[in-house]
Amino acid sequence: MRIGIIADCQYADFDSPDLAPQRKYRMSTNKLQQAITFFNSQDLDFVIHLGDLIDQNKDSFKHLMPILNTSRHKIYHLLGNHDFYPVWPEQEIRNNHQELLKILNMPSKYYSLITDEFVFLFLDTNEVGVIEWNEGTKEYLEGELLISQLRKKGYINAQTWNGALSSAQLGWIEQQIKMAAKSDLRVILCGHHPVFPSHRENLLNSEKVLEIISNYPEVVMYLNGHNHDGNYGEYRKVPCITFFGMVDTNENSYAVLELSGNKGYIKGYGREINREIKLR
Ligand SMILES: [Fe+2]
Repeated sequence: MRIGIIADCQYADFDSPDLAPQRKYRMSTNKLQQAITFFNSQDLDFVIHLGDLIDQNKDSFKHLMPILNTSRHKIYHLLGNHDFYPVWPEQEIRNNHQELLKILNMPSKYYSLITDEFVFLFLDTNEVGVIEWNEGTKEYLEGELLISQLRKKGYINAQTWNGALSSAQLGWIEQQIKMAAKSDLRVILCGHHPVFPSHRENLLNSEKVLEIISNYPEVVMYLNGHNHDGNYGEYRKVPCITFFGMVDTNENSYAVLELSGNKGYIKGYGREINREIKLR
């Protein structure tokens, strides 16, 4: 199985901010087209974008969709924190999840894809927190409380741009894994936020996902974006791979993930790193 991977295209029509001069927002359209054109020359099963397709302006989707539509492979999306951000007008944004799902052609905020060998679980790592919800809503206030509690406990990832999975979504993951196990399928988790190694960009309740990873031998990999610098760690022999963010630097970044038996191989392009991975 061969899969094209892109993380954090994060296009916007403005200059790099002083605080993040490495973010080259306007270059993302060309970089995305270059990645898709390359993927079109490859024999792939599908392509995954790991969230943060846009930086903050809903109009940015209009510039990206014609590019994504040139892909001859199906592209599976998941939701990043930036996909929810204004300048979607306040009434329209965060609680209007249906429009976002329609734009990205997603069946729901989290969903599964079953192939011959694997079940891919595309997660919504923004579900709990302040990212998806309008200020003042019950969900937003609960999110704010969670972040302040974690901050008091000294969590380095207790940041407003990180989210968590609800207990309902965690239950859904376990149910999906149990179903996969019955069919002798292995499971690959894909989320926007990292879970391992420890990092200030990590999912707010990453320990819950790591518990699932260690409880179910069917889980063979966790793939994510969000930390544009890339990262890698193995939690109880499960590779947790952070892909480099396309938006950063003048150089592009994308990858092809090959899975064969108990071997995985990431061929990185641009900033992305080649990695050989052993699947348990
Ligand atoms: Fe992000």
